[in-house]
Amino acid sequence: MAKPLALAISLCLVLLNVLFQRGCLAARPQFESSQQNACQICELQAREPDIRIDCEAGRIESWDHYRNDFQCAGIAAQRVTIEPNGLHLPSYTHSPQLMYIVKGWGVMMTALPGCPETFELSQGSQQGQEGQSYEELERRQKVRFIGEGDIVVIPSGIVHWVHNNGDTSLVAVILLDTSNHLNQLDRNPRRFYLAGNPEDEFNQQQGEGISEQRRHSGQGSNNNNIFAGFNTSLLADALNVDIETARKIQGQNVETRSQIVRVEGKLVFLHPPIRSHAQETQQGQQEQQGQQGYENGLEETLCNIALKEYLGDPRRADIYTPQAGRINVLNSNDMPILRHLSLSAETGFLYNNAIYSPHWNLFAHEVFYVIRGSARVQVVNDKGEAVLDDEVREGQLFIVPQNHGVLQKAVDNQGFEYIAFKTQDNAVINTMAGRTSVLRALPEDVLANAYQISREEARLLKYNRQETVVLSSSSSS
Ligand SMILES: *[C@@H]1O[C@H](CO)[C@@H](O)[C@H](O)[C@H]1NC(C)=O
Repeated sequence: MAKPLALAISLCLVLLNVLFQRGCLAARPQFESSQQNACQICELQAREPDIRIDCEAGRIESWDHYRNDFQCAGIAAQRVTIEPNGLHLPSYTHSPQLMYIVKGWGVMMTALPGCPETFELSQGSQQGQEGQSYEELERRQKVRFIGEGDIVVIPSGIVHWVHNNGDTSLVAVILLDTSNHLNQLDRNPRRFYLAGNPEDEFNQQQGEGISEQRRHSGQGSNNNNIFAGFNTSLLADALNVDIETARKIQGQNVETRSQIVRVEGKLVFLHPPIRSHAQETQQGQQEQQGQQGYENGLEETLCNIALKEYLGDPRRADIYTPQAGRINVLNSNDMPILRHLSLSAETGFLYNNAIYSPHWNLFAHEVFYVIRGSARVQVVNDKGEAVLDDEVREGQLFIVPQNHGVLQKAVDNQGFEYIAFKTQDNAVINTMAGRTSVLRALPEDVLANAYQISREEARLLKYNRQETVVLSSSSSS
C-alpha cells in the first residue's frame, strides 16, 4: 500500500521540479532559491527595497536577497539613510562591501586591525570646532570625509561606522558581495554590530508573509551586539572594566537601541575644516600624489591602502560623448585593493534619449541602482527572452546577470544617472553597437550570411556608429 503511494509522491515531486526549474512559462516559485538553478532567470524586476528598519536617527532598507536574481549574482544590497546627527553604530560584515554615497555628507571610519592611531589629540593643545578644549589624550585612526559621489570599499570583517555631521540626510547604497571568495560563511548576509540591540536588517519579521526559505533559516528579529553573547564577568575581566560598564557594552541597559542612533551633543573630530566638493577633490588628488611619491612597498600594507574615491566627479570621466553622456569607471587600476576583493563599479550619467550601447559583461554580474531620472531597460537571457523590460526609476535597483544582454535608454528630462556595482575587479563588456562593438569585429561576409543581408547592408551595420559606448539617439539628433 505504502509503496505505490510513495512512488506517486516522488513522481509528482520530480514533475514539479521539472516544471519549476525549466522554461519560463511555469510560474516562478516564491521560494525556489537553490543556488544551482538561481540563474535560470525568467523574470527580473527593478525594485525598491523590500525590508525596512526604522531607527532612532535614520533607517536601513534591504532588498530581499532570497530572490532568484540576488541568489544568482550572490549579492545582497542595502540603502542606509542617516538623519543629521545620526550615527550608524560600528559594525562589520563577513562579505566585502562597496558603499556609494547617493546624497549628503558625513564622516566615517574603517578601523583597520593592527594599524597605528595616526590622529592624536594631546592635552590642552587642541581646540575642537565648538571651541572646547580636550582634557585628555585621545588616539584614534583616521576619520574620512564622505560625500555625494564618493565610493568606499569596506573589506570583510573591518569595523566601520558612519556619522552624519551635515544638515541634510545622508543616503548610502551598499553592495554586500556574499559570494565573494573572502567570505567563508554561507551566502546569507550578516552584519555584526559592536553596540546596541540591532534589529534583523536582512530578514522580514515573522508573520509579514515570510517565505518558506526564510522560515527555514530560523532568523529571529531580536538580535544583540556581538559582546552580548559573552559572559559579563568574563567580558569585564577581559576589558578590565567594571561589571556595570560591561553590561552597557552588551546593551543590557537598554530595551532596544537600534542600529542608527542620535548623537548627544556633537561629535567632534580633529580634522581639516569642512570643504566644498571641489576642495574635497583637490585634497583627494593630493592624497593620491602623496601616495604615489611613497612607493617603496609600504603602500601595499593595509594601513595605507586607498579605500575611498570620488567617483561622481564629471572631470574624471573615462568615457564621454558630448551629446550623450559620460561613464566613470572604478577598477583595480584605480584602487588596488579591488583586485583582492574582485569588485569594481561605475557611475554613469546619460542625457535624455541617450543610449548605453547594448552589451554584456564578460565575467561579472552587474547591480544597478538608479540615482536620478529614469531609463527604459531591457535585459535578455540566453533564450533570447526579455527577462526585464521596464522603465526604471530613481531609488530602484536591478541586476544584470553575467553575459545577459542589456540595453538602456534614458527617458527622462533629468536624464538617467546610476551607480553600477560589478562582481569582478576589471569587468570587461562586449558591446553590440558602436565603434568597438562585436559586429565591427566580424567579417562582412559572415554578417551578410548570418543575417541574410547584402554586403552593403553589412558594411552599414559595421560602420554607421562612430561612438563607442554612450550613444546619441538618432531620434534626438
Ligand atoms: C559567568 O562566568 C562566571 C565565572 O566563570 C560564573 O560564575 C557565572 O555563573 C557565569 N555567568 C553566567 C550567566 O553564566
